[in-house]
Amino acid sequence: MINRAIELIRKSTRPVIFTGAGMSRESGMRTFRGEDGLWKQYSPEQLSSISGLRSAPEVVWNWYRMRLMTGEGVVPHAGYKALTYLQSKKGKLPVITQNVDGLHRLAGQTDVLEIHGSMRTASCLDECGFSTELTSGILKNLPPFCPDCGAILRPDIVLFGELLPQKIISKSYELAEDCDLMIVIGTSVQVWPAAGIPFAALENGAVIIEINPVQTELPRSDHVISIRRKAGEILPLLVGLEEKT
Ligand code: APR
Repeated sequence: MINRAIELIRKSTRPVIFTGAGMSRESGMRTFRGEDGLWKQYSPEQLSSISGLRSAPEVVWNWYRMRLMTGEGVVPHAGYKALTYLQSKKGKLPVITQNVDGLHRLAGQTDVLEIHGSMRTASCLDECGFSTELTSGILKNLPPFCPDCGAILRPDIVLFGELLPQKIISKSYELAEDCDLMIVIGTSVQVWPAAGIPFAALENGAVIIEINPVQTELPRSDHVISIRRKAGEILPLLVGLEEKT
């Protein structure tokens, strides 16, 4: 299985990467589902929605400050470095991520499509046009207010009930429909429309290499190679940064 995956990655001419929260687990970020998932402890409707932000802005911003602080000083693990190496080897390797932690970019990857937005910036909830880098300084007093119109600020991530950035999601589906290989890493493949991206790759006849310690919604098929390992452990081997022992 591993050798077949190594060979497929080596021979692939139009590979695409698709990642979820599990890709950042070995850098110390929590996932949303699974044994220690954030959604077991917190309510996504309350903490990751426009209605929640409007009804309890301080609670919601406390949650984002906690996630930002957790993310501060976080270093991309060996799996991220392996993807950066693969991107330099392949010359073109689009990275579609559901993550908002910015670790793909921090690892030096380019052509990164952040389909759920990013925690790097915040903007005016009333859309007056104000936007700013999201730093811990801004979050000294919660909730942060827009200096131009006095409305609450919002993190520039896609909140539940909101549409995904149309250009990015269309581009992501285009890439899925054209790729010959998709490496799907650290996602439970449960949240649509992002979760449809690997299925679009399968429909176009691409092969999927899935890296996830547990079974997900991806179908059992000879076009899906599921490697039940952690991203940071197995990616360096798969991309040729480590020799098989
Ligand atoms: N390596 C690879 N996969 C891992 C690792 C690891 N070290 N650790 C955990 N995983 C897997 C888990 O088994 C799980 O299947 O990562 C997956 C994480 O799934 P979720 O927590 O559901 O995260 P994700 O799929 O990214 O969620 C999608 O849901 O709440 C929304 O906006 C949020 O973008 C998120 C979306």
